[in-house]
Amino acid sequence: MHEVLGHRRRAIARASLSAALLSLGGCTGRIDAARDPFALGVASGYPSPYGFVIWTRLAPEPLAADGAGGMSSAPVEVAWEVAEDMRFERVARRGVATAEAAWAHSVHVEVGGLRAGRPYWYRFVADGRASPVGRAATAPPHGVAPARLRFAFASCQQYEQGWFVAHRHMAAEDLDLVVFLGDYIYESSWGRDHVRSHEAGEPTNLAGYRRRHALYRSDRDLQASHAAFPWVVTWDDHEVDNDYADDRSEDLWPRERFLARRAAAYRAFYEHMPLPVSMRPSGPGMRIHARLDWGSLARIHVLDDRQYRSHQPCPRAGRGGSNNVGASCVERLDPALTMLGAAQERWLDEGFASSTARWNVVAQQTLMAPLARSSGGEARAWTDGWDGYPAARDRLLASVVARRVSNPLVVGGDVHAWYAADLRRDFDDPRGAIVASEVCGSSITSQGPSHARLAALAPLNPHLRFADGMTRGYAVATLARGSAEVALRTVETVKRPDAGISTLARIGIEDGRPGVHVSGTA
Ligand SMILES: [Fe+2]
Repeated sequence: MHEVLGHRRRAIARASLSAALLSLGGCTGRIDAARDPFALGVASGYPSPYGFVIWTRLAPEPLAADGAGGMSSAPVEVAWEVAEDMRFERVARRGVATAEAAWAHSVHVEVGGLRAGRPYWYRFVADGRASPVGRAATAPPHGVAPARLRFAFASCQQYEQGWFVAHRHMAAEDLDLVVFLGDYIYESSWGRDHVRSHEAGEPTNLAGYRRRHALYRSDRDLQASHAAFPWVVTWDDHEVDNDYADDRSEDLWPRERFLARRAAAYRAFYEHMPLPVSMRPSGPGMRIHARLDWGSLARIHVLDDRQYRSHQPCPRAGRGGSNNVGASCVERLDPALTMLGAAQERWLDEGFASSTARWNVVAQQTLMAPLARSSGGEARAWTDGWDGYPAARDRLLASVVARRVSNPLVVGGDVHAWYAADLRRDFDDPRGAIVASEVCGSSITSQGPSHARLAALAPLNPHLRFADGMTRGYAVATLARGSAEVALRTVETVKRPDAGISTLARIGIEDGRPGVHVSGTA
């Protein structure tokens, strides 16, 4: 797989560009000939049985101060090709898209008319220059059960805290899909032992968010995992601002001012991700929750728990965002509180009801299982996660039960620690029924909690079967008839770009029996 992206292959692909394709790439001289317009790489996403999205952004000077990537305001025609082979001898589809300055010269092509359940290769040409080659794949046909779905899930990649070595290893895995669960960029600088720098303060406008995305996307290892597999994505808070909730920022900005900032962040996110054109934002909102079917084997429900959520209950005085609260915060139990918003809750319930898939993956941002903490003998809850919205969690799990969802598997991120959990209808009854399985991924780079801190939490949280906060990486989930397995892939260190990878633990789940089984721990 890695070979596809290697220089030799790229050279072959560029050499075999058809004259027709080159001529489609528009006249020369519009882009500085000394610079590569494809410095941000290529990506694909959202596979269906008929096609997928292919993406690139023309940015010969990715970090240009105005956020325009070194492009003028003129539109540029970008030719694209999708082939059944990596040498582009059997081209299945080709066309021309217009890259416009209004969308940072990004290109989102929804390629259709392809054959189900097979790999494809794609590339772009602009101004006579070819992009690197990416590999994508279509989903299996409706109603057909493929032998397996193997996907990686990952989150939380603070750029300064480490190299994206996990992405280099991810690109070499044998995957059908990557599911990214948020904190793709970080707006802020924080953490220990930085290996590199944002070289800028917090973005608050469109130019700033474009530059932050371009900085992250200039990373070759991140480009490699985008080019190797189709991705499906959601976001968490750091794509906009720490701990934001709908229209409320942590610093309690005036509502309209914060919504303008959020709109800029969402727009830059759209411009840099392989998202379908139907997700293109208008106004302050952008719909990103989505469903993906992998034949009859799996349905992935991708959620957005930031844009529509209620404000966190019982914030610190004069602040928005999270807090650690005790029993005195009765507001936390208010059934009106929501993580998804009423419309998305209904949409999820309908998606559960209509699913005929063997596995139902709920891809969302954070740990869903309760994580009770203790301070001075009093139980505390952290309000930015599902613990801030227990009635909303209860409604989601009630829907899983009511709709008789087959093999619900919740995956998450955000908390910079690995967790495997049994999700129960009633977490206060350790002998009550387990209704879903959960695996929460660690982080690509962002630092996590110490062993001592997690060890102190263990006795308070018997539903957690595994916890580790000291290792970084990504999870690889393999779903099949009979069972599923999630391998926790951890890098040696994020402080060295050449670090190796190993498997910290394997989480097994039996088909037809919710609950996690941990094996392979040292
Ligand atoms: Fe994070």
